[in-house]
Amino acid sequence: MRFPSEPFKIKVVEPIRRTTREERERLLQEAGYNLFQVSAASVYVDLLTDSGTSAMSDDQWAGMMLGNESYAGSKNYYHFEEAVRSIFGYRHVIPTHQGRMAENLLFSTVVKAGMCVPNNIHFDTTRANIEHQHAEALDLVIKEAYDPQCELPFKGNMDLVRLEDVINRVGPARIPLAMVTITNNSAGGQPVSMDNIRRTRALLNRYGIPLFFDACRFAENCFFIKEREPGYTDTPMPEIARELFGYGDGCTMSAKKDGLVNIGGFLSLNRDQWAQDITNMLILVEGFPTYGGLAGRDLEAMARGLREVLDEDYLRFRIGQVRYLGELLNNAGVPILKPIGGHAVYLNAKEFVPHIRRDEFPAQALAVALYREYGIRGVEIGTVMFGKNDTATGRTIYPELEMVRLAIPRRVYTNMQITYVAESIIDLYRDRERIRGLTLTYEAPVLRHFTARFQEAPCATAR
Ligand SMILES: Cc1ncc(COP(=O)(O)O)c(C=O)c1O
Repeated sequence: MRFPSEPFKIKVVEPIRRTTREERERLLQEAGYNLFQVSAASVYVDLLTDSGTSAMSDDQWAGMMLGNESYAGSKNYYHFEEAVRSIFGYRHVIPTHQGRMAENLLFSTVVKAGMCVPNNIHFDTTRANIEHQHAEALDLVIKEAYDPQCELPFKGNMDLVRLEDVINRVGPARIPLAMVTITNNSAGGQPVSMDNIRRTRALLNRYGIPLFFDACRFAENCFFIKEREPGYTDTPMPEIARELFGYGDGCTMSAKKDGLVNIGGFLSLNRDQWAQDITNMLILVEGFPTYGGLAGRDLEAMARGLREVLDEDYLRFRIGQVRYLGELLNNAGVPILKPIGGHAVYLNAKEFVPHIRRDEFPAQALAVALYREYGIRGVEIGTVMFGKNDTATGRTIYPELEMVRLAIPRRVYTNMQITYVAESIIDLYRDRERIRGLTLTYEAPVLRHFTARFQEAPCATAR
């Protein structure tokens, strides 16, 4: 079956409310046309993020009732440690309350000022945590990743030529570790192949540089390997994961994605000295090593979620649901980023609303229109999020891509709700000429997309 139906049935429901267009118009004005400022209760289908928004299984909820909240040595920590070791294979398992704390602990321990950390593409929080150490975060993904039309099976791959150039230019002593993000969120949830990981490892070995994974969506990446990479069709998911992580020295993880939990993360690694230093810091900023900023019940839910996420029926449905949305849109001629990634469909705003100039935030305007007309919330990944003001010239430096990301929460929406999303976007595309650009009226000095305010241009402006 091309698009498998849900491999679960619904036991608990959370009502969602439909609002009127007039209500949404008022809410948008109050929110300064920033969807982060709209209350979730006024959103019909919320595709803002797939992070922390998963529905937990009955087994995970049952596990939460078995939470043991002792300060030290809770049994849930040992279940969690065993689950992480069996899937990822690294010696030390350090729980954190979410992914960015794992990043912060790792980088504040091993990265020093003037160093540099290559990645295929850094997620915002890994970049920010590296730059916070006055080090450089380098994106070395293959160049095809920036072409929304280019269909490659592993568009998240590291460019090994550029990686070797960087190592030679910077010198291995200034590269404390390299990272690979699986799947590559910032380039559209695109996977990295086992072959590319193997070669990355071999290259780094020649220079004695450790390799870490940003493993948030590791199960989705492993599923793509099974589907697309020769030699893996019959390999069970846990074996694919073991091989993949075997090429690394450790990983950071936000379990809010492929841990199928609403909060939680960890750091897992082999290096004893690093683990000891990180654990000392963990005690200072998060908590005792057997809870690390979480409750015992959270650790139990994470232990169970990490095993569930490797279930092939689940992954076939998960990847299939995202693909279902993408294909409905693509077949109707709606411009999307290709190929369809693991956790989200990305609308290509440059082509969707070509009448809106870049300085009028086309992707933000598109996200606003989608909410106003249909109560669907996506997120702008474009000039609002990544545009920079060049202080020397006073000009805006625009990012390559101008997208609206529709991130699909795991096990939350039915295929009928996804159909509603697709039909709404197809309607909006037919009426796209009416979408208006925006002008910025307020921006914060950092991470402006969360709090920026806009007003609408009076009518659609010509390019
Ligand atoms: C690839 C990637 N790395 C790291 C993070 C940070 O995780 P958290 O939000 O749990 O801090 C995210 C979150 O979206 C992510 O997508």
